[in-house]
This record gives sequence, structure tokens and C-alpha cells, in this order.
Amino acid sequence: MNFKLKNDAFLRALLRQPTEYTPLWMMRQAGRFLPEYRETRKRAGSFLGLCKSPDFATEVTMQPLDRYPLDAAILFSDILTVPDAMGLGLYFSDGEGPKFERPLRDEASIMALRAPDVERDLRYVTDAVSQIRKTLDGRVPLIGFSGSPFTLSCYMVEGGSSDDYAKVKTLMYSEPKLMHHILEVTAGAVIAYLNAQIEAGAQAVMIFDSWGGMLSHSAYHEFSLAYMQRIVDGLIKEKDGVRIPNIIFTKGGGLWIEGIANTGCDAIGLDWTMDIGVARQKVGSRVALQGNLDPAVLFASPDAIRSEVEKVLGSYGFGSGHVFNLGHGISQHTNPDNVAAMVTAVHELSRKYH
Ligand code: CP3
Repeated sequence: MNFKLKNDAFLRALLRQPTEYTPLWMMRQAGRFLPEYRETRKRAGSFLGLCKSPDFATEVTMQPLDRYPLDAAILFSDILTVPDAMGLGLYFSDGEGPKFERPLRDEASIMALRAPDVERDLRYVTDAVSQIRKTLDGRVPLIGFSGSPFTLSCYMVEGGSSDDYAKVKTLMYSEPKLMHHILEVTAGAVIAYLNAQIEAGAQAVMIFDSWGGMLSHSAYHEFSLAYMQRIVDGLIKEKDGVRIPNIIFTKGGGLWIEGIANTGCDAIGLDWTMDIGVARQKVGSRVALQGNLDPAVLFASPDAIRSEVEKVLGSYGFGSGHVFNLGHGISQHTNPDNVAAMVTAVHELSRKYH
């Protein structure tokens, strides 16, 4: 029990300890579906302006919590702050998503890649973590996060989002040593970055492996999972006598959950394609599970939302070890009232399973 927290159901669920109901939060809970977020973003001038100011980052982190009784807060930031701090020059062009001014395109730039000085170059993130913790004042736990080395490498090599990941896959298959070099440097950076977030006050950490799911079985294990294993091994596991649980989320990784559980992580995030009850049978004695409502369910009516929530809860079944979430980030086109219907349904309907 973490006595400083008024609501620690999320942390207990991650550690498979008993809770009275199933706690929930949503990936991308602070974001464009909220009118108050769009208003703050306008004042900040840009998305990166929000991320780089601890005051703005704190303000938008709190917005979904002020609207809904969610059981966790997530640091407002982005996974691409790490490659930005490694000198790649992150920018967002309207409608096109993230881009890098200096993507990794040749051996010289790959061999010159260095882990950032987290205390100097990512100070704005750790400052935001401390400020959010102060503002939360123990309401709910704060989640810190990072991209996985593989997912970050995708953006660093492609120079932005991609439909087919042709550049990163070409590098991976034709120059595996260079790919491993990028992953090794990035894994070291991620470990330092997550541990700095923990030192600043993050009470759980999540690794977003958004693109690991487009790899083959063997490539996933060699180029994505192996580096998440290093991160799990290198993370601070306990601070001031309190466990800091970690969550691995490979979107599209349902086939590989046994391997993910073998890393020794505390919890696995699931997208909506897998039955969470089947996942529980495979790995539920070793890890907690987080997920896995299809975000598109939130486009439907409150009644339909309630019945889809019941399906996920019923599929997980009785007992602890489940954190309810969406299977991926909430869409910007979601009606905020429908989120309220989901939150109420999870809190009400889950009590009978505990
Ligand atoms: O979950 C949260 O509320 C915390 C904040 C958060 C953001 N990005 C804010 C954001 C988190 C955890 C992320 C992670 C992230 N960023 C991932 C991994 C999770 C996933 O979705 O798979 C990835 C791949 C990124 C990279 C990234 N950042 C992309 C591809 C985009 C453009 C997406 C889009 O919908 O346009 C971003 C921008 C971004 N990150 C926004 C937010 C709220 C939208 C920015 C805006 O225009 O205001």
C-alpha cells in the first residue's frame, strides 16, 4: 500500500494485488478530443510548445482528470523527445505528423549517434514530472513513458511516419550491425530517460512499442524485444521502499505475449485484436494485463459502449491484475461524453469481478 496516494488502485492492479474495482486510464487521454486541450494548445502556439513548457504540460495532464474519475495520470510529452535530444531536430508539420530535420540515412550519421545528456537536454521533461506530481497531490499515480528502441529507430531512420517502413526494414535486413548500433545507443538513452522520470516522481513507467507488431517473428525478438529486455533489466524497480511497476505495450504483439512476459516486466499492454481472457490464460499468473477496448467503440452509443466494456471485463474475468484501457490511443474525433459513459461503465460493472 502506498500511503501517500489517495487512490492507488492502478498500482495495485499492476502488481496483481486486490482492488475493489478495475482501475482505468486511456492512452492519449490528454489530447485533441478535449476542447480544453485544443484551447491550451492554441495558447502554447504548438504541440512542442506544450511539451517543452512544464506549466503547459502540467495543465494538459490534469485536464482529463478534472473531467473524469480516471485512476492514473500520464505525463504529457511525446516519445520523440529522445531522438530530438539526440540532435535529430524534431518538428511537426500540420497534418503530416512528426518529422526529423536530420534523419539517420548513412553510416556516418549512425556511428555519430550519441545518447543525450538527460539532465541537460531532457530537463524540461523531468521538471514537468515533478510539477505534475506536486499538482496531483496524491490524487492518482503518475505514469512516465518512453518509446521502445525499435519504435524510436523507425522514426529516426524513416524521418517521420511511414506506411511501409521500407527504409528501416531495408537497413535492418541489409545492415543489421548498423541497426543494432542504433538500437543499442537508443536503449541506453531510454534507460537513463525512464530512470530520470522515476527519480523525478513517475510512479509507474510504460514502454510504447507502437511499430514492433509489423515485424516478423524472428525480427521482433531480435530487434525489438531484446532491447526492451535490456530496459526492463536497467530500470529502477523500487523507490523509497515503493515498487515502480513497468508496462510493455507492443501494438500488434498479441502473438508474442509469452516472450514479453519472459522479460520480467510487471504488465503487458494489449491492443484490441486479442481476447484478453486468452491472454490471461497464457501469462496472467506472471504479469498484469492492460487493455483492450477498441478505441472505435467510443464512436458508438453509450449503451453499446457499456456492453463492449462488459465484454472486456467479462473476458478478463474474476480477480485482480487488470488495468482497463483502450487498445490504442483515443481518436481526436471522439465525443467527450462517450468517454464519460465508458469510465462509469468500467467503475460500475467491474465491482462484481473483485
Ligand atoms: O497518452 C497521453 O495522453 C500522453 C501523451 C502522449 C502523446 N504521445 C501526446 C501526443 C503519448 C504517450 C504519446 C506517445 C507517442 N507519440 C507514440 C506512442 C503511442 C502510440 O500512439 O502508438 C507515438 C508513435 C508518438 C509519435 C507521435 N506524436 C505521432 C505519430 C503524432 C501525430 C499523431 C497525430 O494524431 O497527429 C504525435 C503527436 C501527438 N503526441 C499529439 C499528442 C496529444 C497530437 C499533437 C497535436 O496536434 O496536438
